[in-house]
Amino acid sequence: MSENRLMVEATGLTKGFGSASTRLEVIRDLDFVVATGEMVAVVGPSGVGKSTLLHLIGLLDRPEKGRIVLDGVETDGLDGAVRAGLRNRSIGFVFQHHHLLDELDALDNVALPLRISGRGSRDARNRAAELLDSVGLAERTTHFPDQLSGGEQQRVSVARALAMGPKLLLADEPTGNLDRDNAERLFQLVTELHLKVGLTSIIVTHNEEMARRCDRIFRLAQRSGLSENVREI
Ligand SMILES: Nc1ncnc2c1ncn2[C@@H]1O[C@H](COP(=O)(O)OP(=O)(O)O)[C@@H](O)[C@H]1O
Ligand SMILES: [Mg+2]
Repeated sequence: MSENRLMVEATGLTKGFGSASTRLEVIRDLDFVVATGEMVAVVGPSGVGKSTLLHLIGLLDRPEKGRIVLDGVETDGLDGAVRAGLRNRSIGFVFQHHHLLDELDALDNVALPLRISGRGSRDARNRAAELLDSVGLAERTTHFPDQLSGGEQQRVSVARALAMGPKLLLADEPTGNLDRDNAERLFQLVTELHLKVGLTSIIVTHNEEMARRCDRIFRLAQRSGLSENVREI
């Protein structure tokens, strides 16, 4: 386990898109701090910058200003390859759409990040089988994405996100495409794995009820930065 008390320490983040006259500033001078082990919800209206924030924290994009320290590591000065390595090892992503590869079955989809990182085929597949078991899909390992329900596809995505043993889980509206029952099951699964694996989790959601079940809720408001709404636990 990490000895850092803070998993995410982002300060003074500014990020916009376009240039000069077409520039749209999405995030301005934003501070966002998440303690190690926390499960935090990020909420706010569509277009407010939730995904942009997650992309910055997940090292998928760079802020124009500000700094991001992840588990004690200052990320701003790192070059692309080092950032990619840190991202692959330390951060798991789940998106609204599953982004599974159609031509691979569930087992190989989950094994893929392990194979890319150089793990042998048998080892990667054994680990993938364990992960699929942990998301309740031990019986679905040879199913292809189009043979799985939406809820099952998202559970495979969660297994894949955890393949490399990340410390930080970033989920961008992970239940956004699911019906109520499946959304609830997926959220419960993420909550269980958060505790069991010892993750720090940041979950973007439009579901207020799920947000309230997180340790804290961050509300992202249009152009006024992030306002923090602390819920006692
Ligand atoms: N790569 C991009 N290029 C240009 N504009 C973008 C890009 N990504 C996001 N935006 C714009 O930034 C704003 C915030 O987007 P986003 O972070 O996706 O919002 P949210 O996830 O809260 O719905 C939107 O107006 C969106 O159109
Ligand atoms: Mg979004």
